[in-house]
Amino acid sequence: VVHHLKDYQTPQFDIVSVFLEFDLKPENTNVTNVMQVKNLNHASLMQLDGEDLELKSILIDGVDITQKCEQTAETLQIPTAGLDTFELNITTSVDPQGNTALEGLYRTSGNYCTQCEAEGFRKITYFLDRPDVLTLFTTKIIADKADNSVLLSNGNLIESGELENNRHYAVWQDPFKKPCYLFALVAGNLECVQDTYRTLDNRDIDLRIYVEPKNIDKCDHAMASLIKSMKWDEERFGLIYDLDIYMIVAVDDFNMGAMENKGLNVFNSKFVLAKPETATDVDYEGIEAVIGHEYFHNWTGNRVTCRDWFQLTLKEGLTVFRDQEFTADMLSPAVKRIEDVKRLRSNQFPEDAGPMSHPIQPQSYIEMNNFYTMTVYEKGAEVVRLYHSLLGEDGFRKGMDLYFERHDGQAVTVEDFRNAMADANNVDLVQMHQWYLQSGTPVLSVKTEYDSVTKKLIVNCSQNIPKLADKFPPLLMPIKIALYSDDGNILPLHPYEGDMEKIVVKGHEAILKLSHKSESFVFEKIEVEPVVSLLRGFSAPVILEYDQSNEDLAKLVTFDSDSFVRWESIQTLALKEITRNIAQLESGQALELSNEFTTAFEGVLKDSSLDNALRALALTLPEMTYIGEQYQQVNVDAVYHVHRWLKIQLATKYEGLFLEQYLQLNKLNEEYHYQKTDIANRKLKNVCLQYLMLLPHQIKLGEQQFNHSQNMTDVLAALDSLSHTDSLEREACLESFYRKWKDDALVLDKWFALQAASHHIHSLAHVKELVKHPDFVYTNPNRVRSVLGVFGRLNMLGFHQPDGEGYHFLAEQIMKLDAINPQVSARIVAPFTHWQHFDGERQTLMKKALQSILDNDNLSKDTYEIVSKSLSLS
Ligand code: ARG
Ligand code: ZN
Repeated sequence: VVHHLKDYQTPQFDIVSVFLEFDLKPENTNVTNVMQVKNLNHASLMQLDGEDLELKSILIDGVDITQKCEQTAETLQIPTAGLDTFELNITTSVDPQGNTALEGLYRTSGNYCTQCEAEGFRKITYFLDRPDVLTLFTTKIIADKADNSVLLSNGNLIESGELENNRHYAVWQDPFKKPCYLFALVAGNLECVQDTYRTLDNRDIDLRIYVEPKNIDKCDHAMASLIKSMKWDEERFGLIYDLDIYMIVAVDDFNMGAMENKGLNVFNSKFVLAKPETATDVDYEGIEAVIGHEYFHNWTGNRVTCRDWFQLTLKEGLTVFRDQEFTADMLSPAVKRIEDVKRLRSNQFPEDAGPMSHPIQPQSYIEMNNFYTMTVYEKGAEVVRLYHSLLGEDGFRKGMDLYFERHDGQAVTVEDFRNAMADANNVDLVQMHQWYLQSGTPVLSVKTEYDSVTKKLIVNCSQNIPKLADKFPPLLMPIKIALYSDDGNILPLHPYEGDMEKIVVKGHEAILKLSHKSESFVFEKIEVEPVVSLLRGFSAPVILEYDQSNEDLAKLVTFDSDSFVRWESIQTLALKEITRNIAQLESGQALELSNEFTTAFEGVLKDSSLDNALRALALTLPEMTYIGEQYQQVNVDAVYHVHRWLKIQLATKYEGLFLEQYLQLNKLNEEYHYQKTDIANRKLKNVCLQYLMLLPHQIKLGEQQFNHSQNMTDVLAALDSLSHTDSLEREACLESFYRKWKDDALVLDKWFALQAASHHIHSLAHVKELVKHPDFVYTNPNRVRSVLGVFGRLNMLGFHQPDGEGYHFLAEQIMKLDAINPQVSARIVAPFTHWQHFDGERQTLMKKALQSILDNDNLSKDTYEIVSKSLSLS
């Protein structure tokens, strides 16, 4: 069944309130569901959603009508003629233990938990499982005491007590109406760390993080992150928490990152648990960001929710934007922006260029879970950022305030958000809607002309989406620009009179508001031919085509005040270096290093005035996937070969400098702190190590770091570098790491992931061994992603092995996984979907692998949707 946005209809019924009673038993949990229903349109039939439920009984106003109802695999139809308001009482039972799809009510490490978004509530009980039905929830949980010391649901605990047979119960009431996708229940033997937060309006909020007892020493960072999030949302957006209690539960088996259930977030333990010995800087940052993200959802998602799932980006794009801003404020805005652009380019751009390409507001879906994508989330956040760039911080805040004023307690659409932004600022933003309708990454082409006589600079911009060959309505793009003199002085900007409307000058920066297919922007009184700093801060999610000379790029690397452009300029130089050498290789000529690139590279390596985190980013070559993106058809072997060649060239040429820098930073190796400068130092140190480790005589350096570091950031960086070598040290360190950490699932995931990504010559053979390892389990999504996800995404050599063995292996694994966990299986397919991007022989082999998956009789709709859409292009 395909669901279409255009088919949206308002609900026929209102579920005013619901009382749920769970009698928890591992394989047979009875759920009693008592709904107070309003028949809004005198409908004669009420159709409820439900899947994998065992129906026991249905009562209307106390009268058993089970026999009069019709049950299908996914619905229950109830006759409602003549009933305006009624009580509907449905009893069903489910099997949490047997639920390996991890959607609905399931068991993880012996505890009960739920995941309802997007359409998982229907696996718990019959309901109107759609986000525009908002209901008051009261939940009674009954369970064995011995196995379930803790019984949790949304809202406030209003009652609890003892029962016969060593059972007990708790009743939770959520005072806020909510759609059922925000429902949660957790039960088990958990312990919690507790803190309080005093809100801006002086209420004390009880904060609790529940984990398995063995993990109680790994919650401090998560708690600190929660408190920072609460404070930040008050300060930046004036948004205050609304319940008296905020709970987070960490579980080991979870399909996604985390879930913002009202007052009771459920998290993948990966985004809660950390201590310096077990978690890296990246993990710490991830925890802070995801804790923030889920907390921010309380307003952008829960208080104001989505009308239907086509509006997903309304809450996700906006909340990602908010968590990006939060991380930027906690750490470094410059670093955060670059990291986000890298992520967007290496993950969202390919998605948007492949068969799963969809606008941030998809128009149809088969399985909604497949649309929790980089596009809806990350491109969605970029679109929210466009509003921010166009309206400025104050204007954006006014728009947000109006959005909450108008829509608190409602289920709304992306148009409602746009209208709030527009009305609060008295501007017309209708054109912004095109960003919601348009798929594909726009290409922005810029040509600049300087006239030394008239002292004018003309910036000619045009936009295009190649696959549409110009047949699309133009998008509104804010293009941030600044001009420099040759020696790095920023130049004052004087827009030409006629362009005042579309050029917004702020200090020495301007925003060009491109709203047509092609448009020119003119600046006057530019006394010297300027060096142009374009698309500052990556002000629009586009592919920029602007032919800048290597000299200008090199200058921007040394002096641009915009860190993104500075980084981008050296990346562009590196990319040119790589693509030029790929061409050399393909035409059988020798590879050679150019002075232009090495001079810029050396400059950054020596520039100790630059932030170490930015230096680390600038010294890191573009990722192989991003290099591949530059080609219609990528030559995998050439990309890998040249990428590696360039790294070795740089390592050899600058061995002395890398070593000096490395040793200097390594001396600082003191106690671990999650703190901006420390993170930056570790980052730069480990980039230096990565280069050095390409030189066989430096392998000892990695081994030393591995053996002597006390924090996981440094240990893992060393092991990562070692994992790509073919050395005795590699085997010894992997072995010792395994022995030390085999009982810590999150750390062991890292051990699996390193090997799955390794460029070792026998990596495919290694990966085949990994899935047979006693610690590999198909039922744990983190473990599966660590091996199969990483292999397909990052193991260029193994996955794309010319004989197709990598494809064959992954396809087999996907089929095995699909029977256990369709949501995760559908995600693992992603690397296959880019088959058109590879050479003819590989295309054939990849399609063959996809076809073998499609030929499976019992394929889930999750995997079916991705595979069939990928193949329909051929
Ligand atoms: N709303 C959650 C978040 O972004 C994601 C949950 C999605 N889960 C899923 N199974 N599709 O934080
Ligand atoms: Zn979210």
